[in-house]
Amino acid sequence: MTIQIPRGTQDILPGEVEKWQWIEETAKKICQLYQYQEIRTPIFEQTELFQRGVGDTTDIVQKEMYSFQDRGGRDLTLRPEGTAAIVRSFTENKMFGLPNQPVKLYYLGPMFRYERPQSGRYRQFVQFGVEALGSMDPAIDAEVIALAMEFYRSLGLKRLKLVINSLGDRESRKAHRNALIQHFQPRINDFCSDCQERLEKNPLRILDCKKDREHELMASAPSILDFLNDDSSTYFKQVQHYLNAMNIEFVVDPTLVRGLDYYNHTAFEIMSEAEGFGAITTLCGGGRYNGLVKEMGGPDTPGIGFALSIERLIQALEAEAVPMENNKQMNAYIIALGEKAKDYSVALLQNLRRDGLSVERDYMDRKLKAQFKAAERLGAQYAVIIGDDELSSGVATVKNLVTGEQKEMALENLKEGLLD
Ligand code: HAM
Repeated sequence: MTIQIPRGTQDILPGEVEKWQWIEETAKKICQLYQYQEIRTPIFEQTELFQRGVGDTTDIVQKEMYSFQDRGGRDLTLRPEGTAAIVRSFTENKMFGLPNQPVKLYYLGPMFRYERPQSGRYRQFVQFGVEALGSMDPAIDAEVIALAMEFYRSLGLKRLKLVINSLGDRESRKAHRNALIQHFQPRINDFCSDCQERLEKNPLRILDCKKDREHELMASAPSILDFLNDDSSTYFKQVQHYLNAMNIEFVVDPTLVRGLDYYNHTAFEIMSEAEGFGAITTLCGGGRYNGLVKEMGGPDTPGIGFALSIERLIQALEAEAVPMENNKQMNAYIIALGEKAKDYSVALLQNLRRDGLSVERDYMDRKLKAQFKAAERLGAQYAVIIGDDELSSGVATVKNLVTGEQKEMALENLKEGLLD
């Protein structure tokens, strides 16, 4: 029996991978414009990092982690998300002491969650995310949101919806928490066992439950926005003010709570409104996490960021029928006929490549006609024909495959001619 790819993962083959490269390059360009620097952290971390960072009562930690013991008996987990790891690295590398604050970072890499695979939901997926640590200026919240929106816009997506909410500061959340307990307690037996457990530990998570979504108490649950104290409310208004200043449209949704425990103040998601997009419409999620650095043993440092997956982004691009850029040009296909010419072509290709030209030749002993076909298939701009005769007179026949025009070119001027 042949071995198959693990469930919830995918191969990205040539033909498809160009889209990924285009998206990754765009992400890097946009981070350069907004002055976010790349950070790379390990694919696996100590399990405790996510238990403490993402939160014990979240679905991610309770049900979705790929955790294992290594041969030394250490508890490790394939990272389900980036933020906890970035915060660990920020603290461990004392980046809070760097002269440039806030510290603005981005990352691009695979994440792992043991979820039920379906359209837009994978067990291995690639996140592009940014984190800005060290500033409690609402303008940085607006900047992070603007970066995500601008990234999507520059790739050609139009049907986007930005939803924002505030989860408030510690005091506001405490008041809201008490109201949630009072709200759900009398009928908590209607709810799943997870929610029953969440009631005391973290009642906010009940609002995020996938099983009890339709329960009537969900819609009538107390809204966090009614519990924001003055500081939190002012902060949230200021974020909205800055979004308006950048002409970024948004909707305030008080039911947006996000699925990870570290959030406070600003929370946001970006959805696709494209027709034909799958059931899961969230493309990007993020928010502020002011207590997380301290929780990880660092100094009390505020932070905000987002993450989005390339898989869902590609799905949205396809739903909106956005043409993908493909500017991978091939300069020339070298057709060598005869033993001497073939021999000569080996070094010729090497030299042309060293000079920065993208060139290819035949390795399948094809006939002349089949080699022309191959050149066209590969999208070569020119076909260069070198036979033994051409070799002795030092010229090649060069055919422009776009215009059909054909001319002789001295072998020693080939590089210049092909770049013309
Ligand atoms: P998250 O909402 O868990 O947040 O994930 C962010 C994004 O990752 C989602 O909106 C979605 O695009 C993508 N994603 C999540 N799970 C899957 C999956 N199974 N398959 C495909 N795509 C998926 C976080 O991860 C936070 N770390 C975001 C953040 C950064 N908050 C602050 N800074």
